[in-house]
Amino acid sequence: MERMSFTQEIEKRRTFGIISHPDAGKTTLTEKLLLFGGAIQEAGAVKNNKIKKTATSDFMEIERQRGISVATSVLAFYYKDKKINILDTPGHKDFAEDTFRTLTAVDSVIVVIDVAKGVEEQTEKLVEVCRMRHIPMIVFINKLDREGKDAFDLLDEVESKLKLTVTPLSFPIGMGHDFKGIYNIYERNINLFTAESKTKISEGQAFEDLHSKELETLIGESHATQLREELELVSGVYPPFDRDAYLEGELQPVFFGSALNNFGVRELLDCFIAIAPSPRPKSAEERLVRPEETDMTGFVFKIHANMDPKHRDRLAFLKIVSGTFKRNTPYLHIRHNKKLKFSSPNAFFGDKKQIVDTSSYPGDIVGLHDTGNFKIGDTLTEGELLHYKGIPSFSPEHFRYINNADPMKSKQLAKGIDQLMDEGVAQLFTLDLNGRKVIGTVGALQYEVIQYRLEHEYGAKCTYEPFPVHKACWVATEDEKSEEFLDFLRVKQKYMAKDKKGQTVFLADSHFSLEMARQKYPSVKLHFTSEYE
Ligand code: G4P
Repeated sequence: MERMSFTQEIEKRRTFGIISHPDAGKTTLTEKLLLFGGAIQEAGAVKNNKIKKTATSDFMEIERQRGISVATSVLAFYYKDKKINILDTPGHKDFAEDTFRTLTAVDSVIVVIDVAKGVEEQTEKLVEVCRMRHIPMIVFINKLDREGKDAFDLLDEVESKLKLTVTPLSFPIGMGHDFKGIYNIYERNINLFTAESKTKISEGQAFEDLHSKELETLIGESHATQLREELELVSGVYPPFDRDAYLEGELQPVFFGSALNNFGVRELLDCFIAIAPSPRPKSAEERLVRPEETDMTGFVFKIHANMDPKHRDRLAFLKIVSGTFKRNTPYLHIRHNKKLKFSSPNAFFGDKKQIVDTSSYPGDIVGLHDTGNFKIGDTLTEGELLHYKGIPSFSPEHFRYINNADPMKSKQLAKGIDQLMDEGVAQLFTLDLNGRKVIGTVGALQYEVIQYRLEHEYGAKCTYEPFPVHKACWVATEDEKSEEFLDFLRVKQKYMAKDKKGQTVFLADSHFSLEMARQKYPSVKLHFTSEYE
């Protein structure tokens, strides 16, 4: 009996992330989904936690808002008996690395695209990561109440720029000022857009027979003719929906709507809970772990530090992969080979976090209070030696030498750098030649964050010096003793470094030198991420 309910708990869960370019409507959509789940009462609750655009030049403000947003890192709610966990992915591009890591903890994603802007840069990058990992994706084209691109042109753009194979499961009728509503291909009904849909959840009208005259009455003659033609084109051009292909990451269903007007959102959510995967097996270095296994296992994908120096506690976010997580139970911290118990782990619900009183199941996220034990990627088990894979580092975009500005505080500086890197704020590279430390970040903003935090939390001072690097390349070779590899190491000595795990990295100073190295040393493989197949 108990076994039965455990597997039912797993089947109920849908853990996903919403990805988009800033301003496409991710926050608005998240909020509408929460409203459907009854997890929040009014619009605006999530929005207030968003990193505001105006704050981009003021990193303290961003950090403060990031602090507030701990609770919204995981938004959980029930909808039609499904437990939905939305993992927040920061939209700000300087925190892209955070987003990449969060994507290792989701079972599927929803991609939001602005109908007028089409596919934007940030979306391209994030979708590429999802595509490479075969994460099931649903596309939501937003802001249909505004003038935008033609639906077919957009679908083409999604296919070509994002390299996806799409199949529309809903289709817009008109757009902008002439927006009439949506035909739901998945449910075969029509939902008419009215000004009231902002406050009321509109129910679609069933519509089996597209050729009935009723269509004309509902949307007018020209729209009716156009819709029939367009739907014919849709079924002629796009493959039919196939759930297995979607789950394999080979086919992406597309929905149209307007998050702000709460239009098309119910259709998206209903289809999502029907087709999106429940927690899936995950590879550890040792073996594949299935969610139904009774022993608890999980991995840390995010660490959130408290900016207040008086409370230097951190919250480590653990994704449960298998078994049931219970408080006050000893779990093995694999990297430290140490048993840890948690007396007040946090569960997340709605836009709040609370102490776990019931059990948490695969797919759920628990927040563990941490005084410096955890590092991103750490695995917890009930005793089995397992190492979860798949939290890679990506080549940073910016690189600078970091120098100690207060010789009396070198210990504090080392400790501060160490802990900030464990949190994943930036990446540290140590040059082979002289042991100098180089900090690599995704955005220039992180340098200010690091400097400020080193000073305020660790009492250490640092300065930076430019270090021109084009890309960090993780180096792999089949034969470490080969002439070619040794020659590569010798010639590029100045540019060779170790990352925090001790992996060898080539810090290429230009695109040209990288290409030259690739040509000259074909047996040396240069990867832009720390984990490669
Ligand atoms: P993000 O999280 O992806 O960055 O986007 P967010 O939801 O904050 O939405 C960005 C802007 O787009 C917001 O306007 C939001 O109201 C608007 N928006 C979202 N969905 C729709 C939609 O379906 N139709 C229309 N017309 N607009 C939409 P803003 O003016 O930047 O913010 P606010 O002052 O309205 O909060």
